[in-house]
Amino acid sequence: MARYFHIITYGCQMNVFDSLRIADALRTRLNIQETTELEQADVVIINTCSVREKPEEKVYATLTRVLKYKRRRPHMVIGVAGCVPRHAGRAIMDRFDFVDFVMGPDHVSEVASIVSRAMNHERVIATSQARRGQYVFPAFARDFRPGPTAFLTIIKGCNKTCSYCIVPFTRGPEQSKSPRMVMDEVKALVNAGAIELTLLGQNVNSYGHDLDEDVDFVNLLEAVASVKGLKRLRFVTSHPVDANDELLRAFSRIPNLMPYLHLPLQAGSDRVLRAMKRGYTLDDYLRKVDVLRSASPQVALATDMIVGFPGETAEDFDKTLSAVRRIEFDQMFSFKYSPRPHSAAARKPDDVKPGEKARRLQALQELHEEIQSRRMASLQDSVQEVLVEGLSRRGRQNGVGQVFGRTPANWVVNVDAEDPDDLVGKIVRVKVTQVMRHSLKGRIIDRPEGMQAAT
Ligand code: SAH
Ligand code: SF4
Ligand code: F3S
Repeated sequence: MARYFHIITYGCQMNVFDSLRIADALRTRLNIQETTELEQADVVIINTCSVREKPEEKVYATLTRVLKYKRRRPHMVIGVAGCVPRHAGRAIMDRFDFVDFVMGPDHVSEVASIVSRAMNHERVIATSQARRGQYVFPAFARDFRPGPTAFLTIIKGCNKTCSYCIVPFTRGPEQSKSPRMVMDEVKALVNAGAIELTLLGQNVNSYGHDLDEDVDFVNLLEAVASVKGLKRLRFVTSHPVDANDELLRAFSRIPNLMPYLHLPLQAGSDRVLRAMKRGYTLDDYLRKVDVLRSASPQVALATDMIVGFPGETAEDFDKTLSAVRRIEFDQMFSFKYSPRPHSAAARKPDDVKPGEKARRLQALQELHEEIQSRRMASLQDSVQEVLVEGLSRRGRQNGVGQVFGRTPANWVVNVDAEDPDDLVGKIVRVKVTQVMRHSLKGRIIDRPEGMQAAT
């Protein structure tokens, strides 16, 4: 009888990548098939994130939900993977006796054996950290078929010590994938149909420093960009300290490197940046933005921001607002500071009151929205090359479907199409007809070769 697994993924794209490799292993090594229906699953894996309290809370709520299904299917094997087990694995096993295994991020390549042990009624705890240099990157299944856009982790872990952050604890020290392995995987993904690739790492631009070979991130970008058939290349996330001028100028040199840079600033006050141990001042950051924008003004700049870090005064926060006003980010992901275990800042009093954190977050988001809508307004009537990623959720209306895709600068565009299925995976020229709050609407003006023009 066929058996099924179901994976629920939270957190960053590295977790998404790991979930795909977990799926590969279960399919090809244990012959279990993926299902989108939780109630049909024999194995359920929750791939978790502990970067802030809120995503971690989701794990516990999800476990309670999964338990309902387990009551109906008592043989169901339930596992918790990802970052949360690194610091709470044992506690999860104690508190939720129906959980069969917990595994940390360094054990993804062993998932098939962990799951088969759990299916044989063993409760498995695999939360240790790989020794320096000993992490095994999980492999792709030979028959893995990416969509038009694919992710590829090229460096795991983080060697920075940002004082608020749990990631160095959960993901361990940095380890770069060998350039040969990266290139083999890139070629395989492109041969299997990917036309856009996003290289991943918590701190992707520190790639290579731990390798014997003389290769850095920019060398690797150039090599990957030159792979035949790869139309678009992206990468996340970059740490400002490791984003050197050569990288910032790469956007003007590498034609298929898409004009989008995620370069988290976190705060606008030097005092707070120092307390966060970010390793740069606002001026250092502004200089990088200048280098970037004078070489390639078209690059969209994205940031992450934290409000209410311990000791952040109203004056510090004003500096964040004025930095944002000055830089004008295209995209921002902003968060209330949340104390995390195994982070240095957790030892300081979390002294910005919840109401004040909420007020600062709202003020920051309102300012950003205003800037973003002004920047997005300039896209009205522009012509954009859009890589169509899939069908919009809206479905067909009056016989017309809708597809969505992204512009080079990473804006989401929805486009009406009579032949939506045929467009997926194609790059089409689109005229922007409407600028929405966080996305665009457009009309196809030019189709790829071999497809009929719209009538
Ligand atoms: N490696 C990336 C981001 C990692 S986590 C970088 O260095 O920028 C993603 C974002 O979560 C961070 O950029 C930060 O803005 C936010 N974050 C991390 N820890 C946090 C905490 N304890 N409280 C609130 N936000 C946090
Ligand atoms: Fe966390 Fe800083 Fe590393 Fe990013 S660079 S993962 S914020 S410690
Ligand atoms: Fe979350 Fe772990 Fe990624 S804590 S952000 S899933 S590295």
